[in-house]
Amino acid sequence: MNDDFAERLAAHATTVEACLAEVLAEACEVVPTRLAEAMRHGVLAGGKRLRPFLVIETAGLFGVPVETSVHAAAALECVHCYSLVHDDLPAMDDDRLRRGRPTVWAAYDEWTAILAGDALLTLAFEILSRPQASPAPATRIRLVQALARAAGRAGMVGGQALDLAADKLGEPPSPDEAHVRRLQAMKTGSLILNGVEMGAILADASPADMAALTAYGTALGLAFQIADDLLDAEGDAAVVGKATAKDATAGKATLVSLNGITAARGELAGTIDRAIAALDRLGPRAAALRDAARFVAARRS
Ligand code: IPE
Ligand code: IPE
Ligand code: MG
Ligand code: MG
Ligand code: MG
Repeated sequence: MNDDFAERLAAHATTVEACLAEVLAEACEVVPTRLAEAMRHGVLAGGKRLRPFLVIETAGLFGVPVETSVHAAAALECVHCYSLVHDDLPAMDDDRLRRGRPTVWAAYDEWTAILAGDALLTLAFEILSRPQASPAPATRIRLVQALARAAGRAGMVGGQALDLAADKLGEPPSPDEAHVRRLQAMKTGSLILNGVEMGAILADASPADMAALTAYGTALGLAFQIADDLLDAEGDAAVVGKATAKDATAGKATLVSLNGITAARGELAGTIDRAIAALDRLGPRAAALRDAARFVAARRS
């Protein structure tokens, strides 16, 4: 990872974490203590904060200041963290380790984790509805709509349903590449793409810039899940911060399970090249987004 990118990622993570801590402190004033603590556990401490980075850097391409974009960035991170809290539940992936710490259900219990996830999901939309998220009401509505679509039935939630159908029901009996790509584009790609999309909405980007950024975000999302599946197959849990070698046992349909590690690595490299090429029309100012694509391929956690 180049030093400049690492510094920017860390700086944006600090900014978004400060915003999340403030939002949670205010949001949890009159919330039952156990629920408030579980929400904090799910959001604060750890996490690469890549989706917030994408919001802030994409909006920044067009001059939107981080003081504005940090709110949409924090909203997206709330949805992402909720998705992880629920993904780790016994009924789903049944994981006890996340970001190097016990998962929310393992630290508390299942009902608390379900409710903490629900509360984080709804909090995200509360954040987007506030004037700080964007001074223009029409922009706020576009943000709400984009995040709702990315998170819901035709996005992350729909993708999780396909992922778990393969795991729990063995459906479809012989998943093909097209099925896996669709599943991954939905469960993971949707929220990665949404980072770029919300950045572009905040900036009221032109249709041509939006199309280029959408191509970038789509490729980045696919690459992100291939890298995640490679880390599951090859990574060390102590470094990755979550259990590894689980996808094969669970019968997850991934490009690694379908085509093998070498082919998945090749696919990852090609997908990163496509993501970078999609940014051509944005010129040198999109350097941080190009670095983010290289980071996705090289990451170890
Ligand atoms: C993990 O996402 C879930 C997937 C979509 C593969 P991240 O790898 O971005 O998780 P954190 O936020 O950095 O912990
Ligand atoms: C999860 O994919 C994607 C989500 C929508 C949360 P995984 O189940 O592979 O993510 P990890 O490996 O648990 O982080
Ligand atoms: Mg999962
Ligand atoms: Mg999981
Ligand atoms: Mg995984």
